[in-house]
Amino acid sequence: MLQENKVPDRSLDRREFLAKSSLSAAAVVPIGTLARFAGLAGSGRPQEDWVRAARNEIPASTESSYFQTGGVGPSSRRTMAEVAEKLHFQNRGPADPRYSGTMAQIEPGLRSYLASVFGVGQDGVALTHSTSEGISIAAWSQNWMPGDEVIVSNQEHPANVVPWYVLRDRFGIVMREINLDAGTDLIHEVRQALSSRTRMVSISHVSRNNGRRVRTDESAALGELLRSRDIVYHLDGAQGPGCVDVDFSALGCDCYSTCGHKWLLGPKGTGAFFVREDMLDRIQLSWAGSHSHATMDYEGSYSLLPSAARYEFGTRALADFAGFHTAVSWMEELGFDRVLTRIQHLVTHAVDVVDARSEVQLASPRAEQDRSGVFVLRLPSGCDATEVYNRLADERNILSSPVRQAGDLRLAVHFFNTEDEIDAAMDAVAALC
Ligand SMILES: Cc1ncc(COP(=O)(O)O)c(C=O)c1O
Repeated sequence: MLQENKVPDRSLDRREFLAKSSLSAAAVVPIGTLARFAGLAGSGRPQEDWVRAARNEIPASTESSYFQTGGVGPSSRRTMAEVAEKLHFQNRGPADPRYSGTMAQIEPGLRSYLASVFGVGQDGVALTHSTSEGISIAAWSQNWMPGDEVIVSNQEHPANVVPWYVLRDRFGIVMREINLDAGTDLIHEVRQALSSRTRMVSISHVSRNNGRRVRTDESAALGELLRSRDIVYHLDGAQGPGCVDVDFSALGCDCYSTCGHKWLLGPKGTGAFFVREDMLDRIQLSWAGSHSHATMDYEGSYSLLPSAARYEFGTRALADFAGFHTAVSWMEELGFDRVLTRIQHLVTHAVDVVDARSEVQLASPRAEQDRSGVFVLRLPSGCDATEVYNRLADERNILSSPVRQAGDLRLAVHFFNTEDEIDAAMDAVAALC
């Protein structure tokens, strides 16, 4: 039974927000207060020009040591400006074709752009509002019968557990759990769990609990195995794009759920669901509505769109999707390869720091090819991660996350983090434990 850590409400009131906000910080926060904020320019190791410039574009990255991208990523000023601009533009005449016509270009443009960036067929992208939405599209895509089985792992987010509990209780499906702790063999684990009743495998591309990534070659091999047995293969890619390389077709899965609001630094409430075009009719719709259809009449006939856009329906947040496009373009401009190389470099540094200390250990994989920016520390026994998380935030302005295991603490390391921030976080954790 999953027991998610309870994280207390840490919301700021307006006065606190103004005191910490970049919008007002220069005007109202005394220099002494600013200096206490970790990672501000001027101290520590020099950063490469592109990193320094990009950090300056992301307000949250210099107002704290922001290691919470695995929860929600901070957006750049450019992305926030795009959302604001499109929202203002749209509201000059939301149903006026002079405005709605321009706004209507946003979704097709974004679908096609995401398809080209992440190796998906041009008809294989649906725009969603979260990873969870994609997971539910996948989970509800089959005509489940009592006794049908789904394989998940012991390292899933509730978003890839709760839908299966619901299907278990409504339709009598059976959940099989494989062990994806660091160092286990994915293909072996899946083979052990397969049965003649297995209908789907749904696991994380990158685990939010231990940061283990499913490597592309492993995933391709798993895809081949599952296809030979007619089993649908879904990856939960909430921690995928922007954190590790994502080439959907090379991964060999049938469908992939992701979001814009973590490692891609997009607006909150944006996501995408990728589907192999030849699987569109196997990944059946459970929810549909206006815009899912190509044709319909009031006599009982309809046909679905011939693309993954069929999974979308209703009026949607187009300004946010415009910001999602801007966020991914910005990452492309920075260079996905450069971003991912820097993440690996910072995580290698973090592993070295852990190895040099006795207080903490690695919960994340040690092997470089299995690592991601989701970096998880195992605290000494008796040290509670939620308490450490609270004290790091309150006393040091270091933002981390507790995860499923009570003694594990996650530092999500993105390209805008620095070695100095990692060192300071490790020192602080050691002092608190
Ligand atoms: C692995 C994983 N899956 C799913 C989710 C849920 O993501 P979303 O908020 O985009 O639905 C998260 C969020 O942290 C996650 O880490």
